[in-house]
Order: sequence, then structure tokens, then C-alpha cells
Amino acid sequence: MLPKRRRARGACPGGTAAASAPAPVRFPDVVIYLVEPRMGRSRRAFLTRLALSKGFRVLDACRWPSPRKSPQGWGGCPPMPASGPRPSLTTTPPSRAASVLRALPRPVTAHSQLQGLPHFGEHSSRVVQELLEHGVCEEVERVRSSERFRTMKLFTQIFGVGVRTADRWYQEGLRTLDDLRQQPRRLTAQQRAGLQHHQDLSTPVQRPEAEALQHLVEAAVGQALPGATVTLTGGFRRGKLLGHDVDFLISHPKEGREAGLLPRVMHHLQSQGLVLYHQHQPSCFGAPERLARPSRSMDAFERSLCIFRLLQPPGAALGGPAKAGPAWKAVRVDLVVAPSSQFPFALLGWTGSELFERELRRFSRKEKGLWLSSHGLFDPEQGTFISAASEEDIFRCLGLRYLPPEQRNA
Ligand code: UTP
Ligand code: MN
Repeated sequence: MLPKRRRARGACPGGTAAASAPAPVRFPDVVIYLVEPRMGRSRRAFLTRLALSKGFRVLDACRWPSPRKSPQGWGGCPPMPASGPRPSLTTTPPSRAASVLRALPRPVTAHSQLQGLPHFGEHSSRVVQELLEHGVCEEVERVRSSERFRTMKLFTQIFGVGVRTADRWYQEGLRTLDDLRQQPRRLTAQQRAGLQHHQDLSTPVQRPEAEALQHLVEAAVGQALPGATVTLTGGFRRGKLLGHDVDFLISHPKEGREAGLLPRVMHHLQSQGLVLYHQHQPSCFGAPERLARPSRSMDAFERSLCIFRLLQPPGAALGGPAKAGPAWKAVRVDLVVAPSSQFPFALLGWTGSELFERELRRFSRKEKGLWLSSHGLFDPEQGTFISAASEEDIFRCLGLRYLPPEQRNA
């Protein structure tokens, strides 16, 4: 997806030496242990040869303690979020290997095809091998069918419920949506709305529905402030046909004109009976340094987290003819407002995928020493923001080939 870090290859100093036979021991008092997990077998082999060629002793008999696992082992449950409210079941570390698999042009049919793929440690390789040999992986099945996994999955899919809350409810013995419905006072207004419309919200949003919503939002924005712009972001901008919500960025070419716009837009939408629920979050721009430091998931933009009431075309009522009743569907919509100077960064950040953004930010920080966020690209050494007029510009600043949104489906 992103350029690999420069690896020590033949051309680099020591490359030829690394391939030659071990040199006499020059540092008898020094022993090097190279620990394979995270490093990978080939890199370890390379470093071992390099160290030997320089006269170091390299010992093999060192085993790294196994990584700490959740009670159910790999994938048992999403880890506690470091910060921010938007962790998801698909963002746990082993999912990086899963993402690599998804990004391959064709399905893996032999274990040998994993060779050289990034993020494939011993564990992921073993899971794939078992799947190839037996069609199922016992460990995956055990985790998937566990009560904890199923409950966490059920709860974290509710609008307004993150991993922490789901975990607390699980610890308290709650297991089903009905358990939650019986305790409405435990729930926030957002979670109540999420539960109320749970059936619709757990039905994927289809592209034509996203487009219909785009027209509605454009009309409301156009009425509230002519000249203001609406851009479809998220998975639908990446060309996905289905999504869990619809994300829009609202802006105005003239910086500052976007101030106060969102409440007016919401007013227009509400007056048409299109809004079942919404929560307005004002922007929380603090000190500029705070904007520079990339937070994993939260940015400081003003936003409205909504549930829209989307009229369905005749005959498209959910559940088919058996379901009499209103021909509308509840759909989650995020409306986010970005000032024009930050728009390219907001567009890049909100287009996702989440994993792509995370990798891009990691690359930016580790390889370029620059902090990328949905607000800007910050150079911590100079203490300045690097401006960009478009997404293309941002990729250029990072020394990367431009990737269109359709190629960001990591
Ligand atoms: P979504 O969670 O909407 O995902 O976030 P998606 O890619 O559109 O996929 P669906 O909706 O499940 O089909 C879209 C992008 O917006 C970023 C996410 O990191 C992701 O890259 N985002 C989301 C933020 O930057 N901040 C937020 O508060 C929420
Ligand atoms: Mn989305």
C-alpha cells in the first residue's frame, strides 16, 4: 500500500559483507540476541549474517516471551482503546495481516504465497495454513462462537457504543439488545436512538441511498448558504457499494464563511422531517499544537452525528411486502464542517479507510518526521504547518505517488 521502508539490501553498506562467511569473533564479550517476532525471519537472518560478518557473536537460543493475549487469545475481543471513541472490531492489530490479504489481487491458495507479505507473523501464518488445510481454523471458530466475542460485536455495532461501554455492559452481565432496552436509564440519548433504529442501522446503506442523501444535504446546504460545498467522503468516496453510514464534508471556499452554517443546515433538514436524531458537536479547536498532534480517531471539527429518515422508493420497503408501514429507512449520517484551509486534510482523513489513514500517518511520522492529521501536516522541528491545496499536494509533500480514493480500501 505504501512504499516499504528502505531495507538493507546489497547496495547498502555491509550488504556484501552480510552475505559472506562469518568473520573471526572480534567482540567476545558481546552477545547479540535477535528476537524474531515483529522483525520477521528474513530480516533476522540478514541481521544475523551482518553481525557475524562484523565479528559479533549471535546467539539463537532466545525466545521472546509470548505477547500478552486477551483471555480468548487472538481476536478474542477488541483491545481497550488507547484513546478516542471509535475503536472497532476490525482494527485490532492482527487485522493488519487480514488487510494485507484483502488487498491481494487474488485469493491465497497456497501457504507459500504468504512469503514476503508484510505483517505476517508466525501466528497469522499458522491461521492461514490451518484454513488452507482444513477449511476452518479451530482457534478462529472458538473465538467467533464465544459469548464474549458475540456480545461485544452485538454491542459495539450499536450507534454510540464503543468498546469500553460494551465491555462494561458485558462485565455487568448484559448480553442482548433486550437486556439493554430494559434499562433505558443506563443509556445515553444517542444509544437509545441507536437501539430504537437498530434494525435499519444494521442493514447496510446502499450507494443509491447515499446518493439520495447527498442530494438532500446539498439542497439544505445550498439553502443555508449559497456557495457552500458538500463532498461525499468515507467508504462511498472510495467506491464502496455498501456502507454502515454516509459521511459528508461541508465547507465554503471563503475561509470563515462556514461558521454557524451547520445549525442552519440542520434546521432546513429538520423542517422537512428528515432528521430522526442528531447530536451537534461544536468544533473544539484549542491551541494549534493540539491540532498538529494526530489523534487516532478524533478530530476537532464541528459535526452533527445524525440518523436520517430516508424515504424509500415505492416497493423498496424493508423486509419486502410482508412489512407494512412507513416506506422509510433510518440511516446514519455524519456531517462534518471543515474550514477551507484544512479541507484537503479533512477530505483525506475522512475518506479513509481507517486502516489506510493509520498507515499513512505512521509513514508520515516515522519516515518523514511529519505529523499528519485531518487538520494539517505539521513539522515538529520547524514548529510549522505545511500547507496543501489538494489531496494530491499532500501525497506530494509526503513523497508518495497519489492514490485515488478507490485504492485506499485497506
Ligand atoms: P467510517 O467509520 O464512516 O468508515 O469513517 P468508512 O470507511 O466510511 O466505512 P463504513 O462507513 O463502515 O462503510 C470514515 C473515515 O473517517 C474517519 C475514519 O478514520 C475513516 O477514515 N473518521 C471517522 C474520522 O477521522 N473521525 C471520526 O470521528 C470518524
Ligand atoms: Mn462511513
